[in-house]
Amino acid sequence: QKDGYPHYMIKEIHEQPQAILRTITPRIKNGLPFFEDDQIPDSFFEGVTDITIIACGTAMYAGMVGKTMIQNRLQIPVTVTIASEFRYEMPILSKNSMVIAVSQSGETIDTLEALRLASKYTDRTISLVNVKGSSIARESHYALYTHAGPEIAVASTKAYTVQCATMYLLACKLGLSLGKMSEADAKEFIKTLESVPDYIEAVIAKASDVEQLTRQMINSEHTFFIGRGLDYTLTMEGALKLKEISYIHAESYAAGELKHGTIALIAEGVPVIAVATQKHVYSKTISNIREVKARGAYVILLSMDEKITDDSICDVHISLPQVPDEFAIFEAVVILQLIAYYTSVGKGLNPDQPRNLAKSVTVE
Ligand code: M6R
Repeated sequence: QKDGYPHYMIKEIHEQPQAILRTITPRIKNGLPFFEDDQIPDSFFEGVTDITIIACGTAMYAGMVGKTMIQNRLQIPVTVTIASEFRYEMPILSKNSMVIAVSQSGETIDTLEALRLASKYTDRTISLVNVKGSSIARESHYALYTHAGPEIAVASTKAYTVQCATMYLLACKLGLSLGKMSEADAKEFIKTLESVPDYIEAVIAKASDVEQLTRQMINSEHTFFIGRGLDYTLTMEGALKLKEISYIHAESYAAGELKHGTIALIAEGVPVIAVATQKHVYSKTISNIREVKARGAYVILLSMDEKITDDSICDVHISLPQVPDEFAIFEAVVILQLIAYYTSVGKGLNPDQPRNLAKSVTVE
């Protein structure tokens, strides 16, 4: 079933363009988001005042992408709460709050309990779930299935990108309903979303370059991932991926936060994976990168800047295809997934079955 790939994880990384297409295509009509086949009425989106996203692990990091993107685009408050925390807090929700539960398996107990609690406050709960008929899908008011197909590798890859793509569709629909996006803006947004699978294909074609650069990481004990804004949200996922399958300590930091303490850990040769795709903070991130480079870090930079040649900035530059900033996360995360995969394989580990982890966490 691995279709000639050595591991499920790399197979699933390659499946991402198709998984996104399968998920978004049936939900686009006349260039606009369309959820009627999912039986979600327009009234579900009307009058929403705030959003709370509940999830665990990678699904929670997809939620972080959603939060940053939705807040920037629609200017409505979005909170992401780790489900295991949410279920023991006093939620601040009203009947106009939308609650989004994100889960690949649909069976993660903390997310399910958080959803049950949220349902006491609002009838506007919706789940983004990959497994049909799962508990979270059944217990939310509406389910928006992601069509990633079965994800076998413990480390989630394609489930994350389809969750992000579904979140983008949802944001667009909400933007239209709340009058925060014009129809022309929405059409442009959807058109770009539809081209994401092609950009991901282009990035996957760089897999052998990524394999080369991970040689530097195999013997590392510590690594740092940095970025700002949307880039920061996806470096969290990149760090989790590396930790879970390579057992290398990886931390994600908002690039501007490093100098408030963590930069003390940067020593000669420590890998720093920097993502700089957001134009409004690009020069700020680059200056943070120069700070770590000057202290000896081995810097791998992912950006859409074709002009990077300066080795005072980075040791390796991975150039990403040009896309509107909001959509760069889809390209960058694939590189981060590949970095984790090849580092794990380079260390002689089996990325599909990391120690101590289960695919679905049904206990607290
Ligand atoms: O099935 P879920 O999406 O609810 O699972 C949530 C997490 O347990 C899961 O994403 C976990 O963090 C993965 N090992 C990440 O690769």
